[in-house]
Amino acid sequence: MAATVSEHLLDWYDAHARDLPWRARPGQPAPDPYRVWLSEVMLQQTTVAAVKPYFESFTQRWPSVDALASAPEEDVMAAWAGLGYYSRARNLVKCARTVSALGGFPDTEAELRKLPGLGDYTAAAVAAIAFGRRAVVVDANVERVVARLFAIGEPLPGARKTIRSRAEEITPGTRAGDFAQAMMDLGATICTARDPKCLRCPLSSACEARRNGDPARLPVKAPK
Ligand code: ADE
Ligand code: SF4
Repeated sequence: MAATVSEHLLDWYDAHARDLPWRARPGQPAPDPYRVWLSEVMLQQTTVAAVKPYFESFTQRWPSVDALASAPEEDVMAAWAGLGYYSRARNLVKCARTVSALGGFPDTEAELRKLPGLGDYTAAAVAAIAFGRRAVVVDANVERVVARLFAIGEPLPGARKTIRSRAEEITPGTRAGDFAQAMMDLGATICTARDPKCLRCPLSSACEARRNGDPARLPVKAPK
């Protein structure tokens, strides 16, 4: 089943991927690590729709990590205004300066994890999407899809360990970045929190929650 889940999902992604400005363009083998990193930092606590205009204005004003590294911190803080969580903007400048001094982004998950502002999620996302590394990328969308695929009824946050190990099992050795973004797109458009559209889902034949009949109840949240 491991092979079929990723194969079905990647076929679906090839046909239905969202056209987002930080993704590789057709004919381009891999997206620019700078654009991947910038988008993932912006997307940490902010929706895709809110991020898009900020991403466009940042990349027009500072087209490379070296350009951003040379910017005065107050200019970057001002450009960030409205996105919230301002520690992200301060770390953004710090990280750009570190990366610029290194001569470019490191290309492994472990090295990326050491950069200012890169947690487990962001390091894995950049490693997979920008560098094609097989990294396990788990955000809230992926968490929901995996909890449903395997009918994991254990409540969050305790279920995270199980979810992670299941996500690891279905992550393919190649196209790990496309796989991660396909899981995010599936969670955002098909396997949504309140209204999973199982009839249109490329994973429905493998999905245990669909078979059990009530996918919307997963993942279970711990009682407050
Ligand atoms: N959310 C966080 N990163 C994303 C990405 N690369 N594509 C779509 N949604 C995302
Ligand atoms: Fe989500 Fe339904 Fe697809 Fe299962 S079949 S992954 S519940 S949309």
